[in-house]
Amino acid sequence: MTTFTRIGDGDKPSIFTTASQPIADIDPFLYGGFAEHMGRCIYGGIYDPKNINGLVDKNGFRTDVIDAMKELQVPIVRYPGGNFTATYRWLDGVGPKEQRPKRVEVAWKGVETNHFGTDEFMKWCDLVGAEPYLALNMGTGTLEEALAWLEYCNLDTDTHYANLRKQNGHEKPYGVKYWALGNEVWAPWQVEQSSKEDYAKKAYQWGKALKLLDPNIKLVLCGKDGHSDWDRYVLQECLKITDLHSIHIYTFDMEHYPNVTSPKSAERAIEITAALIDLARTEVDYETFPRFVTKPKTAHRPKISFDEWNIWNPIRAPGDKGAEEKYDVSDMLAVALWLNVFVRQAKHIGMATIAQSVNVIAPLMTTEQGIIRQTTYWPLLLFSKYMRGQSLAVHVRSPTYTGRTSPEWLESTMDIPMLDVSAALSDDDYLNLAVVNLSDCESVETSLPLIEGSVQVFTVGGNKNDIRDTNSWGSTKVVITESEWCESGRFVFEKHSFTLLRWKVTPSRPNLDLSLTSLKASREIAAAVVNSLHARSE
Ligand code: AHR
Repeated sequence: MTTFTRIGDGDKPSIFTTASQPIADIDPFLYGGFAEHMGRCIYGGIYDPKNINGLVDKNGFRTDVIDAMKELQVPIVRYPGGNFTATYRWLDGVGPKEQRPKRVEVAWKGVETNHFGTDEFMKWCDLVGAEPYLALNMGTGTLEEALAWLEYCNLDTDTHYANLRKQNGHEKPYGVKYWALGNEVWAPWQVEQSSKEDYAKKAYQWGKALKLLDPNIKLVLCGKDGHSDWDRYVLQECLKITDLHSIHIYTFDMEHYPNVTSPKSAERAIEITAALIDLARTEVDYETFPRFVTKPKTAHRPKISFDEWNIWNPIRAPGDKGAEEKYDVSDMLAVALWLNVFVRQAKHIGMATIAQSVNVIAPLMTTEQGIIRQTTYWPLLLFSKYMRGQSLAVHVRSPTYTGRTSPEWLESTMDIPMLDVSAALSDDDYLNLAVVNLSDCESVETSLPLIEGSVQVFTVGGNKNDIRDTNSWGSTKVVITESEWCESGRFVFEKHSFTLLRWKVTPSRPNLDLSLTSLKASREIAAAVVNSLHARSE
């Protein structure tokens, strides 16, 4: 949660937060990844057995990709798609490789060799240290196939598919916990696109059957962008079998400000989805007019799985050409802003998986010779390393951005502070402050909370970079700069920079009773506003 005061010319910006005001736990799954059979994500990215420079292990997996995924501490990876899912036959991808059928791939118009399938993915996840998250084919696939896949992955019974897994050399079940009930089933580009009514009916029945077979699984319902009637309807109908509600949003604009501010639309989408979840949980008795009685139908409150998010211009990087985006400093700031949104909205987010992890709209690109860490890799790394634990209440006083936004409604709906901020209290008792200065021309001198001791500072972008700088093989222009800040007074956030500051604190960890902490946080924030108003008149 961030509260915000718009300041005028001559006023001094400030950021206030305190370790004693946590507002929600940050789910470690917030830093998840996604690997789809699309472009060079799997073949040539994760799996590259013919690499001429020997960059692979005995499984044919790229070791530099595994190392980078480990560096990012990716906790969970969604697979095998995406749109690919709607025609995927999982059985094609298990057993001896030479016997696996080659198929025409419909979503991305390619050829699928099936040389990388379920067992390879499980092995890769194990090496990366990530949990697998599988998406079921609700396009051409049947419930029977879905149940068979679940049996193959999770059951230890003496039955056909569990035995097939054992026959394929995997004695112990994988215990895959997270399963998605289809992908973007609402979309016109989807094979077997369906109406919300048809999807909800089918998803409910599939969910019921899958949970009968394995009651330990968590099901992810296929939502849309979080603010559609599809989301409202499917949540109403399927709440009982839903553990997480999935939403997807990609943002992008050719101009810097609409590009960098665009992820704010996801903040609104999260707020609306959370409200739709609550709506689905609530029973209203309109008979008692004028005092309607509302009561929760159930204590069960699914969280959001933001399982596709990123910056993507499908005209610049078309999907059927592999969607190989080249990210610049503006995109890097947008990714940092996306992550700020997730930390601020931690209360509602159960999982977020960036789309995608390698080569396809990705922070990591492979070449025959090695790996490129794109500009967007760095905020992801800093967030994943430090923005964990508990999300903290923040109050920001800063100038605002006013001007064109993408989507257009953003401009008239939300405040867009020039300093976009989130804060986290990590388990090692560091207060971590993530600040994006959106401005492409001005640094912002800002008062920070009272800090004792020195501050570790990580900066990406800023004065040393041009807003259009990118990284490529042999030319890494955008990296993290590390420094220390021991001065008192105001901190200068350089133009178009992402800065993560961290310092040691002695927190008193209150119990996360959200209603109470929010109340206390509001009080403390109100006090901070009064203080900063005093500071203004200094
Ligand atoms: O991530 C790329 C594609 O975008 C996915 O396959 C699909 O789900 C979305 O439309």
